[in-house]
Amino acid sequence: MSLKKHILDLRKRKEQVQKGGGDKAIEKQAAMGKMTARERILALVDKDSFTEYDLFVEHTARDFGMDKKQLHGDGVIIGTGTIYGAPICIFAQDFTVAGGSLGLMHARKITKIMDHALKMRVPLIGINDSGGARIQEGVNSLAGYGEIFYRNTLASGVIPQLSVILGPCAGGAVYSPALTDFVFVVENISKMFITGPGVIESVLGEKISMEDLGGARVHAETTGNAHFFSNSEAECFEQIKKLITFIPWNNSKKAKAFPPKPPKFKGKIEDIIPSDPKTPYDVRDVIKAIVDDSDFFEIQELWAANIVIGFGRLNGETVGFVANQPMVLAGVLDCDSSDKAARFIRFCDAFNVPIITLEDMPGYLPGVDQEHAGVIRHGAKVLYAYSEATVPKVTVILRKAYGGGYIAMNSRHLGADFMFAWPMAEIAVMGPEGAANIIFKKDIDEAEDKDAMRAIKVEEYKEKFANPYVAAAKGYIDSVIEPSETRALLLHAIEVSAGKDDHRPAKKHGIPPF
Ligand code: HXC
Repeated sequence: MSLKKHILDLRKRKEQVQKGGGDKAIEKQAAMGKMTARERILALVDKDSFTEYDLFVEHTARDFGMDKKQLHGDGVIIGTGTIYGAPICIFAQDFTVAGGSLGLMHARKITKIMDHALKMRVPLIGINDSGGARIQEGVNSLAGYGEIFYRNTLASGVIPQLSVILGPCAGGAVYSPALTDFVFVVENISKMFITGPGVIESVLGEKISMEDLGGARVHAETTGNAHFFSNSEAECFEQIKKLITFIPWNNSKKAKAFPPKPPKFKGKIEDIIPSDPKTPYDVRDVIKAIVDDSDFFEIQELWAANIVIGFGRLNGETVGFVANQPMVLAGVLDCDSSDKAARFIRFCDAFNVPIITLEDMPGYLPGVDQEHAGVIRHGAKVLYAYSEATVPKVTVILRKAYGGGYIAMNSRHLGADFMFAWPMAEIAVMGPEGAANIIFKKDIDEAEDKDAMRAIKVEEYKEKFANPYVAAAKGYIDSVIEPSETRALLLHAIEVSAGKDDHRPAKKHGIPPF
C-alpha cells in the first residue's frame, strides 16, 4: 500500500471507531439530553488540544456472545489536553457503547490514563456515564474497578482529581468519584447510587424514583457527595474550567498566579455586619469585599450551608476560604459542616493553598440528633485538619467565637500563623446570656427583678469577657483590626508567609477521625 492509502485507511478506521455505538445509540443519547463522550471532551478542553490514546483498543471478552460483538474503543475515550493552557489527563465513558459498561480493557484504558496523570503530575478528569460493571465480563470488571480505586487513592493529595457524573454511576462505580477531590453533577442527567430503585424495592419494599434516590440535587443538597451542581453540561464544563484556574497541577506546585485586581464590592466592609450580634448576615459578602475582583468560587454551596468554603484570589494568588455562615443555623459547626470544612482544609493543605478562616459562630450544634450522629468524631475532623495543615493559615474573628468553635476555627492553639479580630469580636466560653445565667445564678435568683438583674449581669459579662481584648492581652490574638484594614492585612500575611516552612513529626500517615 502506498503511504497515501495507509493514511486514508487510518482515517477510515478512526472515523468508524469515533462513531462509538453508532447513529442510533447517539440519537438515544441526545434524546436523553446528553452529549456524547467525544463531544464532552471537546467541549471541555482547549480547541485542538485533545490527543486521544487507545482509540483502537478492543475488548477481550468471549462469553455470552461477546466474541461476536465489536465495542468501539471499549466504551471509553482517554487522552490528554489542556484547559486554559493547563495540561490535564481525561477519560470519558461512552454510554453509546454497551452503556459505557466497564470491562477489562475499558478499565485498562482508564488505569493507563490515571498512571499517566500521576507520572506527569497533572490533574485527572473522569467523566462517568456508565451502566457499571460489564455483566458479561464478570470478575474482570470487578478487578478493573479495584484497580481504579487503588490508583485514585495513590493519586490522592498528589494530583487534583475531578469526577464529572454525566449519566448513571451505579453500584461500586460510585466509589471512584467518592475517592476524588471534586464531584460535578448536572440536573436531570447525573444519577449516583450504590443500589438502584429496583433493588431497594425488592429488598425493602420501598418505592423511590432514580432522581429522588440519587439525582444531582440529592447529592448537591442532601448527601454532600457532590461539590458542584449545574443545570446543563455546558454550565458544568464552565465550572470545571474555572476550578482548574484556581488549583495547581500537582502538590509540588502552587496554583497559577493571576494579575492582581481590587475587589469590585460596592459598599463598606464594616457595614456588612449588623450591630445587633443576633442579626444574621451573609458572610459571602465579607469574602467578596476582600478578594480580587470580588470573585469568590464557592464549593458545595447547596450542602451544609452553615459553613462556606471556596476559592478566591488575594493579589492574584489562590487562597481557600472557610467561613461560618451566620445566615444558616447561626453558623454553628455540626456533623455535615465539620465534614465539609475538614475535607476542604485538607485539599488546600495538600495543594499549597493558603487558608483564610472567617469566624462568626456560637459553637457546635447541641442536640440528641447531633450527638447520636457522631458530632464528636465529625467535629474532631476540623481540629485534625487545621492542626495538620502546614500551609499559611490566617484567621479573622468577625464577631462570635464561642467555646469549642473558638478553638476549632483555626485558633492560635491549632497553629494559626496570623490571628486577627474585629473590634466587635466576642471571644468567650459561651454567649453572654448563657454565661450570666450560670455564673450569676445566685444573684439573679435572689434579685427582686430577676430580668433587670440578668440584663445587668449580661452586660457585666460582655464588658469583661465578650470582647477581643482579653484574648489580645494574652497574645492569642495578634491584632485587633478595623474591618477596612482586613484585605491589606491578609495580603500582607500571605506575602510574608510565602516561604513558610513548617513540619510535622515524621510518620507513615495520621489516623484522622473518619
Ligand atoms: C453490560 C450493559 C450494562 C452492564 C448497560 N448495558 N449496563 N451491558 N453490563 N452493566 C448495556 C445494555 O445492555 C444496552 O445494550 C446498553 O448498555 C444501554 O442500556 P439500556 O438499558 O438500554 O439503557 P437505559 O435504558 O438508559 O438504562 C441505563 C441503565 C441500565 C439504568 C444503566 O442499563 C441498567 O440498569 N444497567 C445495569 C446496571 C447495573 O446493574 N450494573 C451493574 C452494577 S454492579 P444494547 O446492546 O441493548 O444497546 C457494579 C459492581 C461494581 O457495577 C463493583 C465495583 C466494586
